[in-house]
Amino acid sequence: MNSAERFLQDFHQRRPGTTPPAFAKLSLTGRGSSYDMLAATLTAQRPEARLLDLGCGDGFLLDLLAGHCPTARLLGVDMSATELEAAHTRLAGRALLLNERAQSLSLTSASVDAVLSHLALMLMSDIEQVLQEIHRVLVPGGQLSAVVGRQFLLGELGPHYLQAFRAAARRDQLAPLALVDQRTQSEDGWRQLLGRHFRSLHFEPLDLPWTPTFEELWDALGDTYDLDRLTPANQALMKNQLHDSTRHLQRADGTLPTGWGLWLIQARAA
Ligand SMILES: C[S@@+](CC[C@H](N)C(=O)[O-])C[C@H]1O[C@@H](n2cnc3c(N)ncnc32)[C@H](O)[C@@H]1O
Repeated sequence: MNSAERFLQDFHQRRPGTTPPAFAKLSLTGRGSSYDMLAATLTAQRPEARLLDLGCGDGFLLDLLAGHCPTARLLGVDMSATELEAAHTRLAGRALLLNERAQSLSLTSASVDAVLSHLALMLMSDIEQVLQEIHRVLVPGGQLSAVVGRQFLLGELGPHYLQAFRAAARRDQLAPLALVDQRTQSEDGWRQLLGRHFRSLHFEPLDLPWTPTFEELWDALGDTYDLDRLTPANQALMKNQLHDSTRHLQRADGTLPTGWGLWLIQARAA
């Protein structure tokens, strides 16, 4: 396990359930949230299809899938035991939950009909090994659908955030932490990674609008990996700096226009 994975595991052990509150409320007209859009990619499955949510966190997507596909056999994998405890509570026995790393799954080969993953795949270290495992556990032709990050804070807010965070990281002398593989930051990179084991690759960029007030923005940032690494005093300094540098972006009603850039990726096991 490298330092990025150790950080992620520690973060999710301490702070389970931070993703659904941030993303379940953002939606595209007529399509719902990124969780809904991911669930909607499931093509007709046999009644007892085995569906795996990789990096399932507190089970929000599995809960949706239980509603969409009541006869399916649901599986969730996550390396954080506290995320899985929250998932156990949410799902009350409707899914089999496995506390393991995606790089080394205990599932037998060709035992899963579809793998879904919401905002987790791009965080997994040794992504090539993870994709090999997904391919191994999928039946031939099985479906992979993933929502992954594309751009953090869309529009003019993004560069202001980055500037403020970089200054804060320098003040705290934070060591660089590569949480994502650079290849997961472009469609070309994903095509390179997926091309080895998957066919029929399909990419859809999703821009989910978000118009928080500054205080709502700051509250949400408090649940991010970046802010978690800063000392409280430094967070307070960063908040002031970001507030000053984004004042001109605030609209008359006090909100800031921004959003989250994601990709919805679909593929079939070769
Ligand atoms: C940003 S959270 C998303 C949680 C959930 N999919 C959601 O969207 O609500 C990422 C999750 O991936 C899990 N994760 C990251 N790397 C993993 C790995 N290598 N193996 C298993 N789980 C992993 C983390 O523990 C965390 O629960």
